[in-house]
Amino acid sequence: MNAATRIRVVFLTPEMAPLAKTGGLADVTGALPRYLARNPRLEVMVIMPLHREVRKKNLPLKTVFERIMIDWPGSEKFFSVQEFQSEGFRVYLIDNPRLFDRDYLYSTPEGDYPDNGERFAFFSLAALETLRALSWKPDIIHAHDWQSSLAFAYLRHRPTADGFFAETRLLCTIHNLAYQGLFPPDLLGRVGLPGHLFNPEDLEFYGKVNFLKAGLLYSDAISTVSPTYSREIQTPEFGCGLEGVLRKRSDRLFGILNGIDYLEWNPETDPALPAHYSRGNLAGKSVCRLELLRYFNFPLDSARPVVGMVSRLAGQKGFDLLARSLDELLKKELYLVILGTGEIEIQNLLVEAQKKYPGRLGLKIAFDDRLARLIYAGSDFFLIPSRYEPCGLTQMYSLRYGTVPIVRSTGGLKDTVSEFNPATLQGNGFLFEEYQTAPLVEAVSRALTFYRKEPFWSRLVQNGLDSDFSWEKSAEDYFNLYRQLLSWPAARFS
Ligand code: ADP
Ligand code: GLC
Repeated sequence: MNAATRIRVVFLTPEMAPLAKTGGLADVTGALPRYLARNPRLEVMVIMPLHREVRKKNLPLKTVFERIMIDWPGSEKFFSVQEFQSEGFRVYLIDNPRLFDRDYLYSTPEGDYPDNGERFAFFSLAALETLRALSWKPDIIHAHDWQSSLAFAYLRHRPTADGFFAETRLLCTIHNLAYQGLFPPDLLGRVGLPGHLFNPEDLEFYGKVNFLKAGLLYSDAISTVSPTYSREIQTPEFGCGLEGVLRKRSDRLFGILNGIDYLEWNPETDPALPAHYSRGNLAGKSVCRLELLRYFNFPLDSARPVVGMVSRLAGQKGFDLLARSLDELLKKELYLVILGTGEIEIQNLLVEAQKKYPGRLGLKIAFDDRLARLIYAGSDFFLIPSRYEPCGLTQMYSLRYGTVPIVRSTGGLKDTVSEFNPATLQGNGFLFEEYQTAPLVEAVSRALTFYRKEPFWSRLVQNGLDSDFSWEKSAEDYFNLYRQLLSWPAARFS
């Protein structure tokens, strides 16, 4: 197939691993383009902001545009573009130091940056300008989350006379519906969008401008990151107020489960681990466990199982439930180790809990990829008590590292973890339904009954290691969705 017939796809994303990461979105936008680019029928590109975190990595960046002018009402009229060559695709970085050269991507521990609306509107518009400057007409613009969604408002409501994007189809992927990008009504004018969009049929949402709504309303299709979540978000319980909008578009709403990068996350080669191991020889996993016990100053000779957690500290992740359950949970013979960073209230809550249970609870407040990997590898169990979870990657990393997940049955957790059945020896983990202490503690108790009890334990661990969540299948699903999008007529907005 020659290059001219390849489908051109551009990702617009606020983060991408390993350049800049706060959570799973970065893992997805770091891996998926790589797998898509292996398809000879696709040409892939990524555009993201040049955050300080990227700058600090001293990557080989090449300036491709020194100064592009943007039709922007605010004082920032210019940006430059740097290029980074990734594996099989190029990444274009929107460089505007005043907007993006900051300590954090979106928020400090005290809260969001107050100008996030301007920052990500600017990013979205600059991304479109970059495509024009490159003369690279995309067949598909694939925008991720609210930070990129406003691009679709510019395309639909401020189209350029040259029809550059007239044939481009738009796909919006929701990684987390709870983050919508809500700003006061006067923001529209400040980012160069017409005020009439402030109505309930467009971007108005309970008195605020809602960026994600632009992605949901003006796209040709919407996707989200697991089949279960695609159904959940059409209900009031999970819809975060947007369930009506999503239900209206349900014929254009798809659920594609995320994968994980099996090369990047591999206990046989992971340089962050003190010892390596494989399906056939798990000896190295015990070395990782010892290292983890040592890290948290627990006795090395203990046979107690280690339950790990690696998480953003956010309401979604179930730390209120965990806190309520700790007294019961820590009566059991186990160690709990938690690595997390995020909201200050949750940090405080965990610091208090750690003081109360110094011999049982290990806590590290940080973003630390190395330690995260040691926890995936060195733990026996991995706990995810999420209130909701669009997909969740950490349960898949645990399975990949031979660690048994105990999860709440919601969203992508439900699609990837199945309850272990001692009669059939099928299943790779443990689940609980109700967001309450008793079901959580019961699930942990069930899990503990199989700890190092043969023939159950070996099978449970092997079932996890045998689970296949590689990106190949999901990349194929996205490819098919792109083709489907292209089979529909291009939406022509005024
Ligand atoms: P979410 O995107 O909602 O945070 P996911 O499970 O999809 O949840 O992805 C979380 C990603 O972020 C994983 O790669 C996980 O290892 C990583 N992560 C989360 N918190 C930390 C932390 N404190 N240190 C290192 N990595 C973290
Ligand atoms: C979001 C979700 C998480 C998902 C990730 C990647 O941050 O909270 O469940 O795995 O995006 O899609």
